[in-house]
Amino acid sequence: MITHKRLADGFEYIEVKNSAAEAKVALQGAHLFHYVKAGEEPILWLSETSDFELGKAIRGGVPLCWPWFGFNEDKSLPQHGFARVMMWEFVGGDEVDARTTVLTFRLTNDEKTVQIWHYKFLLELKITISDKLTLELKTTNTDDKSFKISQALHTYFSVSHISEVAIKGLDKKPYLDALTWKNELQEGDISFHQEVDRVYQNVDGEIVLSDKKREIYIKNSGSSSVVVWNPWIEKTLRMSAMKPNAYESMVCIESANAFDDARVLKPHEVHVLGAVID
Ligand code: BG6
Repeated sequence: MITHKRLADGFEYIEVKNSAAEAKVALQGAHLFHYVKAGEEPILWLSETSDFELGKAIRGGVPLCWPWFGFNEDKSLPQHGFARVMMWEFVGGDEVDARTTVLTFRLTNDEKTVQIWHYKFLLELKITISDKLTLELKTTNTDDKSFKISQALHTYFSVSHISEVAIKGLDKKPYLDALTWKNELQEGDISFHQEVDRVYQNVDGEIVLSDKKREIYIKNSGSSSVVVWNPWIEKTLRMSAMKPNAYESMVCIESANAFDDARVLKPHEVHVLGAVID
């Protein structure tokens, strides 16, 4: 079942229920903020204090960072681009079978986006809600000049406790440590004892998020960079829409085209950034 819902303050989202899973996607940002498989605990983390407020990104779920990841050289522009706070068009939903629903959302340049980023584009997000979650973010350059994008499916995963988390699949991968701006090499699994903010490069295989309650498998496509982030205590206190202990129950593993993995699209060129989460 696909239902278009509206909160009292006008915040709109699409709710999906099928026999394999349930999901909720806000029209603002085409922001998936809930996904749960039947009989299981939610895969995505959502801040208990997240505002569902127009113009503010939801803290949790899968914010879409686009057309840039992180800071822009022009510091007056928003971190992680503008796609996550724009109102997207819900193109439609397809109930493929009893266990599979596909939703499509679209964003194109308009008078607001052109003030922030001077290009014409078509951005489409396809979300397949089934016993796996599949996200495909397709960028088409509809301009007559090339543009460069960096981007991320900035997925917040719900974990039993951050001290019990191991991220596997990034052993021997180089990474940029965004806390020191040094290039490092990963040795073994990633575990968490302090703030972690890293951009892994040359990533090709599956990533496994393991904690006490389960293992989650992440397979990216159109991407060779992965961002791993947990704000730990001090940064959480400075963050919007996060309770002081919120860092304990979340970790972000972001399917990205970031830093050296940014992409240049010529006119009419298409790039699809994808993730399958199982
Ligand atoms: C991560 C970055 O992707 O996003 C972090 O690596 C950043 O540095 C985090 O703090 C959250 O960003 P925001 O803009 O959603 O608060």
